[in-house]
Amino acid sequence: MPSEKTVYLPDKNVAKNAHISSFAQYKEMYQQSIDNPEEFWGEIAKQFHWENPINYDKFFTFNFDVCKGPIYTKWLDGATTNISYNLLDRNIRNGHGDKIAFYWEGNHPDDYSRLTYKKLLEEVCRFANVLKSKGIKRGDRVAIYMPMILESVIAILACTRIGAVHSLVFAGFSADSFSERIIDCQARALITADGVWRGEKYLALKSICDQAMDKCAKNGHNVEVCFVVSHLERVTAPSGVQSNQSNKTPMQDGRDIWWHDVVPQASTSCYPEWMQSEDPLFMLYTSGSTGKPKGVLHTTGGYLLYAATTFKYVFDYKPNDVYWCTADIGWITGHTYVVYGPLANAATSVLYEGTPFYPQNDRFWGVVEKYKVNQFYTAPTAIRALMKFEDSLVTRHDLSSLRVLGSVGEPINPEAWMWYYKLVGGEKCSIVDTFWQTETGGHVLTPLPGATPMKPGAASFPFFGVQPVLLDESGKEIQGEGEGYLVFSRPWPGMMRSLYNNHDRYETTYFSKFPGYYCTGDGARRDADGYLWVTGRVDDMLNVSGHLMSTAEVESVLTEHRGVSEAAVVAKPHPVKGECLYCFITTNGQVEFNAQLVTELKKIVRERIGPFAQPDVIQSAPGLPKTRSGKIMRRILRKIALNDRDIGDISSLADSSVVDQLFANRPISA
Ligand code: WT7
Repeated sequence: MPSEKTVYLPDKNVAKNAHISSFAQYKEMYQQSIDNPEEFWGEIAKQFHWENPINYDKFFTFNFDVCKGPIYTKWLDGATTNISYNLLDRNIRNGHGDKIAFYWEGNHPDDYSRLTYKKLLEEVCRFANVLKSKGIKRGDRVAIYMPMILESVIAILACTRIGAVHSLVFAGFSADSFSERIIDCQARALITADGVWRGEKYLALKSICDQAMDKCAKNGHNVEVCFVVSHLERVTAPSGVQSNQSNKTPMQDGRDIWWHDVVPQASTSCYPEWMQSEDPLFMLYTSGSTGKPKGVLHTTGGYLLYAATTFKYVFDYKPNDVYWCTADIGWITGHTYVVYGPLANAATSVLYEGTPFYPQNDRFWGVVEKYKVNQFYTAPTAIRALMKFEDSLVTRHDLSSLRVLGSVGEPINPEAWMWYYKLVGGEKCSIVDTFWQTETGGHVLTPLPGATPMKPGAASFPFFGVQPVLLDESGKEIQGEGEGYLVFSRPWPGMMRSLYNNHDRYETTYFSKFPGYYCTGDGARRDADGYLWVTGRVDDMLNVSGHLMSTAEVESVLTEHRGVSEAAVVAKPHPVKGECLYCFITTNGQVEFNAQLVTELKKIVRERIGPFAQPDVIQSAPGLPKTRSGKIMRRILRKIALNDRDIGDISSLADSSVVDQLFANRPISA
């Protein structure tokens, strides 16, 4: 396994033609973005259309210090624009009308289609006109609960066309979670599809929406109009399954409208609503460590600049490239790097409806081969799942088109990084381990292809305009090498501006712990070469006998064992050490979970990190409690470690049955 000092230089062929082709060039541009943000972002802003021009005296203002007054961030205040105009009309004007915006690849390999920029604009205008005809106007919230289909992109952009604020909820959340979010943002309209196949699993989206809307009504909020895309009848059901589900979709008179009954006859032109730069663009809920989900609010002008710029440089996107991000549009990654970033660059993307495992476990690699994908962006959890299968599933496909491989969502363990780099990338691709959050709007720490020498597992260096700082517990800045709280001392254009209808919570959650800084909630370490390594959520930090370490660090060591497919570590209070490590281990079938494995694992941790890090408890975990987005819910693991059955709300778990199993598996000695 690579050590912290192992460096992989960008491939010469990647570097040669890259937008940023050396580390020196990155550093120079970075310095300019910090010293003179007006000039740096002002130059980028010129590529876009501003109906009301930019006022350079008010280009960028902010306050991050709660002691000095309310927290705010404003970019390009006073300028007006329309995002859909910049993503569509502007690109068509620049000659990209017949360019493919999206290749749509269905769950079933027989299903696929494509959409050009020109056609996308027409469809967006049609649906925007339909929304208007139903009384939806500037500032109204529109809830979207959709699968990965072209109408989802159309719906999103139609909202932006008329200045409505979209609020997507990942179509995997329960009706309860969905209704809570609809009520919180008081959505007037809802957009969904009848249903969708994900792998061999059928999801009845409309009936989940019906339950959610019923629940809203009981709480005094009525969704006025619900648009339903008839999707099922046009796709191939998994073999052996009957697909006449759409016939059964119940429609409520006066509220529910089939998309195909109203959209085709609507006009293909719709004058864009000119929005203030700081007008809301969308909101997106993210779970808080306590209480209700937080409605993260993003605004217009700055987000456009940031999505466009990060996409261009982090993926080194060139005009003829084909790009594929596997994230669902219901998450921030889908917003910024399936919809806004690519379209702002007139890019061609793949939009994939299914799972990595259907019809076979090589589907991802087959799709890369089919569309000759140049940039592939996925999550470590997917990489770890796929690396369990034999190498031939990867190697039997021609993946030579790949140039940049992206990772997002959690720290990528060096073992997964190496597999991605060697097997998928053939040791010639740049890996971009992008650290960011729903709140940051776009990448904030990331290597750049062609420019940044890579260290497996390091998110590396800040993107342009981002100023990361590490703080110790007392709020003092850590200079040079060290580990602490990852915070940012100034806003970049794409950062969130508030929590919807709850600016107080925004200030207390992100700005009260360390006045003057935006607090990510993550910890990070700066190594001797200045690389930043995100170590995981701060609430997952462990302090064993005064040694600060992260759960991710220990997990990464544990997963190096050939028999371990996944590991999760939590802190358990300890009378002498303060805290000790309690580890959950999922084996990969090559070894049995037994006393010998436990001994071996303790030894690896002792050897790789230090004697102080030796776990006190290692238990078998046939499955881990994960959210539908694949995040391990450590809160639950901490309860299991404590044998405390009072585990609270587990409705966001993808599979709640693992919890009982884990309690049953506790070792007697624990
Ligand atoms: C949290 C944000 C950003 C889109 C997906 C998740 C973790 C994300 C990385 C990375 C280490 C990462 C952090 C962060 N995270 N990317 N490359 N390395 N950690 O968005 O649901 O808002 O989660 O994901 O803990 O705070 P999110």
